[in-house]
Amino acid sequence: MPHVGFTSTQLSARAAYLLRGNDLGTMTTAAPKLYPHMWSWDAAFVSVGLAPLSVERAVMELDTLLSAQWSNGMIPHIVFANGMDGYFPGPARWECSVVTDKAPGLVETSGITQPPVHAIAVQRILDHARRRGRTTRAMTNEFLDRRWGDLVRWHRWLARARDPEGRGRITIFHGWESGMDNSPRWDAAYANVVPGPDLPPYRRADLEHVVDASMRPSNLEYDRYIWLLEQMKRAGYDDTVLPKVMDFAVEDVFVSAIFAVACDVLATIGEDYAKPRSDVRDLRAWADRFRSGVVAASSERNGAAADYDLRARRWIHTETIANFAPLLCGGLPRERERALLRLFDGPRFCGHPDLRYAVPPSNSPISGDFRPREYWRGPVWPVMTWLFSWAFARRGWPERAARLREEGLRQAEDGAFAEYYEPFTGEPLGSMQQSWTAAAVLDWLD
Ligand code: GLC
Repeated sequence: MPHVGFTSTQLSARAAYLLRGNDLGTMTTAAPKLYPHMWSWDAAFVSVGLAPLSVERAVMELDTLLSAQWSNGMIPHIVFANGMDGYFPGPARWECSVVTDKAPGLVETSGITQPPVHAIAVQRILDHARRRGRTTRAMTNEFLDRRWGDLVRWHRWLARARDPEGRGRITIFHGWESGMDNSPRWDAAYANVVPGPDLPPYRRADLEHVVDASMRPSNLEYDRYIWLLEQMKRAGYDDTVLPKVMDFAVEDVFVSAIFAVACDVLATIGEDYAKPRSDVRDLRAWADRFRSGVVAASSERNGAAADYDLRARRWIHTETIANFAPLLCGGLPRERERALLRLFDGPRFCGHPDLRYAVPPSNSPISGDFRPREYWRGPVWPVMTWLFSWAFARRGWPERAARLREEGLRQAEDGAFAEYYEPFTGEPLGSMQQSWTAAAVLDWLD
């Protein structure tokens, strides 16, 4: 693999240029060709990267996303760009505005959600604003006043609609809701998703943009994705119906950990900016509940967290990056946390001797279902490296945070800003010029 090796200055200039190129005006597409719309958790990471460039533009990104929030509180996983095509399933397939009155009127969205990392972005934006002048601070304060209620509604929806029994874990009804579309975590649950003969025909658009189909999910996987979409549509995207009818229902431990930490982050913002006490109290209570839910899902032996398949009533024991969910939100007893950190550093993950960079691959290279080039089945996703480095800094582990940042930056030096990377060779894979990869680099270099 040739290694161009851009300097930091060149790299951040290129990352900024990339985000500018993917900017449609009020939204940044997740990638130029493969993902020509706004994705929910991408938008949050993107605004983290925009904040050092322009706090105003970062705020606009979140404003655009929140303008697409459903009336029940859900932030949809895609906000479709006006007049852009080239992605399947698009608005015509989701039909949200046709089958539910909860979807927003003015924009088209998908009917599922994605991991709740948005509070992290809000916090980052406020931090940047504090370093700027009075006008910028006034603008972010105004943003927070305007959007506080929406952010709390988003969290309340997750806590209620996606954990109705108060188990402290978020249920997802589609693998896409995890953000890790085809992770081996979902294989067993998907095996029970049998597309009906009435699955309306469709044509994939993703394979037109990625040259090598083996880097993408398979056709059978896609049939299942689209079948679940049909099931949701038939349920009218109704929060009370989905738990009864969906073939796929899994408690996602990684999303739950993100939610726990995001609730704490938002609660602290609420305290700092004198938001209603009752909101702060709710947020702290959800943080505690979900932290406990994550801890309860982690192994007593090594702390590794597991997802729970509600249909099969079985814990899902795969060896993926999601095992490290408790490191994001904390709460493990000391010894167990130490063991989990050893697992993170050890040969099953970051310490695998053949890794090009010491960053966590999406799936352990040691596990039987590891595929070094296939999407969430093995490659390294820079944005996940960023998330762990952010979380480690927050947890009070600056050396760990710095190490991930350094390795993440070494990987990014090729300037491709790829969606994901082959863990052994460092080859950039999937989509190039992926917005959130550039955003991670911008934050690291700030
Ligand atoms: C893929 C990823 C998902 C991401 C989206 C846009 O679907 O699996 O996590 O949000 O692309 O980048």
